[in-house]
Amino acid sequence: MTEAQILDLLRQVRHPARGDRDVVELGMVHKIDGSTVTLAFPKRRDPLAEYLIGATRAALIRGGIRDPKVETIVIEEAAPKKKGPEFDTDNLRYVRHIVGVASGKGGVGKSTVAVNLACALARLGYKVGLADADVYGPSVPLMTGTEGEQPMAEEIDGKELIVPLEKYGAKWMSIGYFAERGQALIWRGPMASNALKQMILQVKWGELDFLLVDMPPGTGDIHISLLQEVPMEGAVLVTTPQEVALADVEKGAAMFRNKNIDRPIFGLVENMAWFTPAEHPDEKYYIFGRDGGARMAESLGIELLGRIPLVQSIRESGDCGEPAALGTRPDAQAFLDLAGRLAEKLG
Ligand SMILES: Nc1ncnc2c1ncn2[C@@H]1O[C@H](COP(=O)(O)OP(=O)(O)OP(=O)(O)O)[C@@H](O)[C@H]1O
Ligand SMILES: [Mg+2]
Repeated sequence: MTEAQILDLLRQVRHPARGDRDVVELGMVHKIDGSTVTLAFPKRRDPLAEYLIGATRAALIRGGIRDPKVETIVIEEAAPKKKGPEFDTDNLRYVRHIVGVASGKGGVGKSTVAVNLACALARLGYKVGLADADVYGPSVPLMTGTEGEQPMAEEIDGKELIVPLEKYGAKWMSIGYFAERGQALIWRGPMASNALKQMILQVKWGELDFLLVDMPPGTGDIHISLLQEVPMEGAVLVTTPQEVALADVEKGAAMFRNKNIDRPIFGLVENMAWFTPAEHPDEKYYIFGRDGGARMAESLGIELLGRIPLVQSIRESGDCGEPAALGTRPDAQAFLDLAGRLAEKLG
């Protein structure tokens, strides 16, 4: 492929915080050497650096380059400062409680619980933010009806921060805001992990009572690295009630109880605790078994913080971007109760 062809591919890579101009136009393409592209960044820490590296790789792969490499160089404006840690936690200074919402397994309703819990806490009068730490399958934009919106970047004290979106009385941040619609982000190992740290640490959260972190599914390296660098106070675990889910919740709990991490688990949320059909709102069907959540909580030695029913309206309200917790139905009450318990527990 010629350099001109590669440049054409790179014109598809837009910098969301620079008026959506592409990296070629912005003069960020420093060098093209075979299938290796070097991007130049004017600052030591562009908050979207990791995102741009991923997007560049994706554009090159789409253009037919099998295994492109993307390197970066930094063009310092001023004399380099003495080297500190890669990320700092300054922006979390005014955040009282940082709580991870995790599970050992995917698809149990973590994001649904996280988004609704954030809305419920906001309804109770708390200042709340939610960081979507699922860089592979971000769902916060869809669930909050903020898809297609683009957060701005702002320079504060010489550092560039991303300004979270505000809706339903809460602040939201997700890598989903920077991905083009329908395009999967192609990450490689440490890139994914850095991108998600940026979504938490390089954000202008301001003063918050609670910052919830919707963790990606599983309990891998990315989780450990996240827990090592983000000062999370503890976690809420989400599960479904079946017996077979116990092993997964145990894995989730073990991750926080690992001796290098050692953070408390504030409690368990039993999602899909029973099924209530829309046409019979007073009926409860325990299709995954009764009291599974209570038994799991007991066996893990943690509190059962809340029980959320399986109802069609929770799924629908998630899909249309108006979280159920904002409504007046019984399922909204379940999220408000959960929020109340968590707030009480953390004082
Ligand atoms: N209590 C509930 N009632 C009805 N539908 C639900 C409920 N909880 C979750 N869902 C639906 O189940 C699906 C999976 O939920 P969600 O995306 O929250 O899971 P997750 O654990 O975050 O998944 P992932 O592991 O992929 O991040 C969604 O379509 C959601 O709307
Ligand atoms: Mg999720």
